[in-house]
Amino acid sequence: MNSLSDCFTLRNGYKIPCVALGTWQTPDGDTAIRAIKAAVGAGYRHIDAAAVYANEKGVGEGIRRCDTKREELFITSKVWNTERGYDKTMRAFDKTLEDLQLDYLDLYLIHWPASQKVNGDNWRQINQESWSALEKLYEDGRVKSIGVSNFYVHHLQPLMDEAKVIPMVNQIEYNPGFKQKEQVEFCQKNDILVEAWSPLGEKRMLSNEVLKGIAGNYNKSAAQICIKWCLQNGVLPLPKSITPYRIQENSKIFDFTISAEDMATINALPVFGTSGLDPDTFDP
Ligand code: A2P
Repeated sequence: MNSLSDCFTLRNGYKIPCVALGTWQTPDGDTAIRAIKAAVGAGYRHIDAAAVYANEKGVGEGIRRCDTKREELFITSKVWNTERGYDKTMRAFDKTLEDLQLDYLDLYLIHWPASQKVNGDNWRQINQESWSALEKLYEDGRVKSIGVSNFYVHHLQPLMDEAKVIPMVNQIEYNPGFKQKEQVEFCQKNDILVEAWSPLGEKRMLSNEVLKGIAGNYNKSAAQICIKWCLQNGVLPLPKSITPYRIQENSKIFDFTISAEDMATINALPVFGTSGLDPDTFDP
């Protein structure tokens, strides 16, 4: 990857720009509009949104106020946990398009899996019904690619066993302090692109001495190291920022390569500073 508009190719052949602006915890309205404009102005071509972030109106307005054509942007959203099941997922998708004021999405994800602990014995069927809605939206061309988020292998495998369309993406928490090896290996083996939410660990990575030390070797920040480390591991990072100079900083990652030795050091870091949100028990 040499620029923000360079792409990974999803298993259906659709191209996905290699870094996205994350929008979790971005306030709606002017802040969202400013962040999107700053990102697109800096060359980002991929915005990661979700209904539950409660800012899709501002995100959509930001997209409209950019000079870049809709077809040149890649927009993701996600169906929230209260909207699981076929009909509700369909309605949630319509609401997201209406809020964003778009007529298609590039990627739509199931935000969190239903799980045994939270949803009882029916959990597989609930995921399947939501997935059938995503398959229908995909068949109808209303979304160009579909996937899941926060799925462990034991959520993903049963879904894949029943699916007509295999998920193209699994978006998970992933950063140098939380590598989810089992999920990443399974997805990469099955040609499912892994996306990293909170690649900076919501800033928790940025005070780590090892990461700061490695960053110094390249005259980069620890944030830039986290983002580049994702890419070098074949994972698509979604750093969130509302601050124009940080949005810029997070995009300046194409003029250096982390050495094999430094990659190995980061890959060997122990678990530290995760969000603690567990897809098997998460019940907001
Ligand atoms: P802000 O949005 O105020 O600019 P993550 O993507 O891992 O969830 O991290 C998001 C958090 O990291 C936000 O608090 C964001 O702050 C902050 N952040 C994003 N980029 C940088 C950066 N380059 N340096 C320091 N903090 C950053």
